[in-house]
Amino acid sequence: MAVMRWLLLLTAVACGGGGSTGTPDAGLAATFPAGFHWGAASAPYQVEGGLHGTDWYAFESSCGPCSHEHADDGPDFWNRWQTDLDLARDGKHNSIRLGLDWSRVFPDGMDQPADAAAVQRYHDILRGARDRGLRPLVTLHHFATPTWLPGAWLHAQAATSFEAWARWAAQEYGGEVDWWVTLNEPIVYVTFGYLLGSWPPGHVADLASALAVVDALLDGHARAYDAIHAADTVDADGDGRAAWVSIASHQRVYRGKVPGDANDTRAAAILQSLGNRLFFDALVFGKRDTNYDLDFDDPGERDFTHLANRLDYLGINYYGIALVESFAPGTPPPLVGTLLLADLGAYGFVSPVTDMGWAIYPEGFGPVLEELRQYGLPVVITENGIADADDNQRPRFLIDHLKAVADAIESGIDIRGYYHWALTDNFEWAAGFCPKFGLIAYDSARVRKARASADVYRRIIEANGIPADLFDHYPGYPEPGLSCPRF
Ligand code: FCB
Repeated sequence: MAVMRWLLLLTAVACGGGGSTGTPDAGLAATFPAGFHWGAASAPYQVEGGLHGTDWYAFESSCGPCSHEHADDGPDFWNRWQTDLDLARDGKHNSIRLGLDWSRVFPDGMDQPADAAAVQRYHDILRGARDRGLRPLVTLHHFATPTWLPGAWLHAQAATSFEAWARWAAQEYGGEVDWWVTLNEPIVYVTFGYLLGSWPPGHVADLASALAVVDALLDGHARAYDAIHAADTVDADGDGRAAWVSIASHQRVYRGKVPGDANDTRAAAILQSLGNRLFFDALVFGKRDTNYDLDFDDPGERDFTHLANRLDYLGINYYGIALVESFAPGTPPPLVGTLLLADLGAYGFVSPVTDMGWAIYPEGFGPVLEELRQYGLPVVITENGIADADDNQRPRFLIDHLKAVADAIESGIDIRGYYHWALTDNFEWAAGFCPKFGLIAYDSARVRKARASADVYRRIIEANGIPADLFDHYPGYPEPGLSCPRF
């Protein structure tokens, strides 16, 4: 009997059976550097509930092309944060991306007192994260803006108000936080709010405002960067640095709709430059391609030095590919084409799709990361995820995208961390609650349940690498189970 037990034990060890799921690991298909940050992400408006002082709350009811669902009916993170942090800890995460809502802390403006109870609750959440071994990465603006700033980023004091918010937050929470994101996806914010109209303030094709908001966001980030560095002097995580500050930029592969078509190709190149590089070129090099001819050779284009050297790392969100259909030849930039994000099969781009109709395109992650090499800064993947209510695509999605990250690291790109979007299901802006992005689902009583992919992610984190057997276990991408709104 004892011999039999020894044989079983030896077999288990030979198969890597010490793995916590009991499935054999035939080794690792990829590894990550020691100290890699592993976590999941969220944004206040999408998970907290009760953020009635934001432009998003006002917009939910009035928006034409929206689901007309309400963020208040979401996961209620504001009251259930301990449960969610427990689940992140149980998933072996060592970090978490979350946000502080500006309107929650300052309900009446920056010249009025902060809400003491809200300030304390965020302290509790941040301490709670750290107590669970979760290093916080904190966002200061994730699409929702306080209504006391009428016109949001078009308000004359937007950038200076944001600077004051960032300074205050860094002073108050700098002892708990080292990693900061000032602005989430500034170009997406501008595109949906001022060009497509499906986010507040709901302007359609308002190019003048869109460009003014880009200027204000750049100015606001640069000011916030300086303010955070001045105010956050505590090295909370002991890595020798008190603050790492960036934006979270939405990066995509941009490709012309008709392969080989010169107009589509040119339009894709211009929109890629605006989408992937405008903020990084300005905030790293102090350069802007003001006439959109894809270089910096024209007068004044290198004169943005007041914005330069304002990123400590590059935060990037990756969700896949956009095809670009050019407008009529000769249409002056910057608006040179339409972005096609969903149902790309109709245009001949064959790939599996998510519940939102977005192409699943891990092949694009490598090129998107390669594009960042020129900036010479560390990279953090601040978001990457999939709408998949059935959770039958997410496991392979994680595996394929993390393999691309590992390959990019192997090629010499300094990637420090990965945050899966999202920790829990949440309010997906104009699309409401149909898209399920969470590693964790919740039911109508808001009782949480980790999806199987949370376990896949846990195995990857525990191995600090990708167990090779996962590829066989999750061979591909079944058909999506839902068809959610495409906004
Ligand atoms: C990103 C947003 C995030 C979430 C995901 C699905 O563009 O930053 O808030 O909506 O998409």
